[in-house]
Amino acid sequence: MTATANEQKPILVFDSGIGGLTVLREARVLMPERGFIYVADDAGFPYGGWEEQALRERIIGLFAKLLMEHNPEVCIIACNTAFTLAGADLRAAFPQMTFVGTVPAIKPAAERTRSGLVSVLATPGTVKRAYTRDLIQSFATQCHVRLVGSENLARMAEAYIRGDAVSDDAVRSEIDQCFVEKEGRKTDIVVLACTHYPFMANIFRRLAPWPVDWLDPAEAIARRARSLLPQAVDAIHPDNFDFAVFTSGAPDFPTRRLMQGFGLKA
Ligand code: DGL
Repeated sequence: MTATANEQKPILVFDSGIGGLTVLREARVLMPERGFIYVADDAGFPYGGWEEQALRERIIGLFAKLLMEHNPEVCIIACNTAFTLAGADLRAAFPQMTFVGTVPAIKPAAERTRSGLVSVLATPGTVKRAYTRDLIQSFATQCHVRLVGSENLARMAEAYIRGDAVSDDAVRSEIDQCFVEKEGRKTDIVVLACTHYPFMANIFRRLAPWPVDWLDPAEAIARRARSLLPQAVDAIHPDNFDFAVFTSGAPDFPTRRLMQGFGLKA
């Protein structure tokens, strides 16, 4: 029997803030028939500076509640900082749930670079992770990989996407370290290893000292989720369904307006 729209469970997309929206917009293109629940742990934002064990416990605790309340079919963890830390713990704690993760796109970068110089722009949490070091060990030993942990970019992206001005100098000082020159070669790929950053890609391009490929994994994550979900031929998107959940319980007006712009009730 073919499933109907009403029988399809929603997809839950999770991030510490608004960064997961960069993944949500790709997921929607590939799965227009699905309902989406966007969860922002804004009460815990930013994740980048959290002590690891405390953040792990927070994320597991949140999911115990979220899964019970929303009963999704799949959860997309649209946050490198969360998934590189707690992805395996989530899968172990909730074995009945499918989690699609987000990890720094080091493997595709290592495959594509011509100069052999790759930079990974991420939160301080993600650059510290054993998971990130393992990705480099497994897939990029032939490259020179520079890890750049940015203290402020996630916050700046939050401000920028809500319509606040961000200064060129402030952005430049966060991305400058990504640009390496070595023996006549230059960095040619910068991995955007925080889902907030693609919102600022236009600014990065304008301020870059030379052109590089800014690698955004959003589409690949959406494709992975699509591949795991059955597609009912007659399924249509459930009417008026998609909504956002903020762990603070109190998103401000610019945030609610932003969510509405993404077709989410907040
Ligand atoms: N968007 C998150 C990521 O992909 C991190 C933002 C933060 O909470 O610092 O890593």
